[in-house]
Amino acid sequence: MQSEPQTGRADGPAFQGRVAIVTGGARGIGRAIADALAGQGAEVHVFDRDAPEESASGLVPHTLDIRDSAQVAEAVGGLTRPPTLLVNNAGITRDRSIARMSDEEWETVLAVNLTGAFNLIRAVAAPMTQAGGGRIVNMASINGLRGKFGQANYAASKGGLIALTKTAARELGPKGVTVNAIAPGMVMTDMVRALPQEVRDRAAAESVLPALPEVDDVAAAALFLLSDAARCITGQVLQVDSGQYI
Ligand code: NAI
Repeated sequence: MQSEPQTGRADGPAFQGRVAIVTGGARGIGRAIADALAGQGAEVHVFDRDAPEESASGLVPHTLDIRDSAQVAEAVGGLTRPPTLLVNNAGITRDRSIARMSDEEWETVLAVNLTGAFNLIRAVAAPMTQAGGGRIVNMASINGLRGKFGQANYAASKGGLIALTKTAARELGPKGVTVNAIAPGMVMTDMVRALPQEVRDRAAAESVLPALPEVDDVAAAALFLLSDAARCITGQVLQVDSGQYI
């Protein structure tokens, strides 16, 4: 049986001593995941183009652009111990209908959401497998499954990320690495709270459950997929969307 990477003690924090990378961990969903991992003993490296927002105790910030494969490779190579946990969370939107979408809007979203995740997976593959295994979680979206008006770039990037998840699961599984995706629905981040009420009302109306997910709901799913408990789950997409897309 494949040995578990840097196993935490059964009686200690679940991620004690493990090295994690969280992209886009400066704020929002990524920050909630980074904080939760650090709270359970992990050494958490935040790869973000911005510095983390206040009170980032326990997080190690790396200011970089995940679109740049050389920057990503250098940052991963500079870690003193190999990462065995990776969360590809950084993502952006540039919404516009297909007929009006510019080349730049299409290319930027694909570059961050899809190429950025590829850059990270490629960079960690060797150190993770040499460490005996690991866990990768990619932050997709329900709009990568169902499509969404005005989000051709974003939905294509997230659909591509799901295909990348399944391919990486097949390639890295024999080396003890699991690769899964989370597909959130509308999550109550600061950004979403600032959207017009009617946009939030529409998401709520689509949802089966009365409350839309908070960042901690997504973080809980990510920590499960990163944990020893999920060792036999790979190539899957876990929706955290209050039933917004069933
Ligand atoms: P956010 O905008 O609050 O945070 C994204 C983080 O990624 C920021 O810290 C930003 O600086 C960083 N980032 C952006 N481009 C980068 C780059 N090129 N290099 C390095 N860092 C970069 O976003 P939020 O809402 O927390 O979303 C996180 C993830 O969850 C994204 O992938 C998003 O697509 C996904 N998601 C979010 C939903 C929501 O309702 N908030 C719904 C479904 C998916």
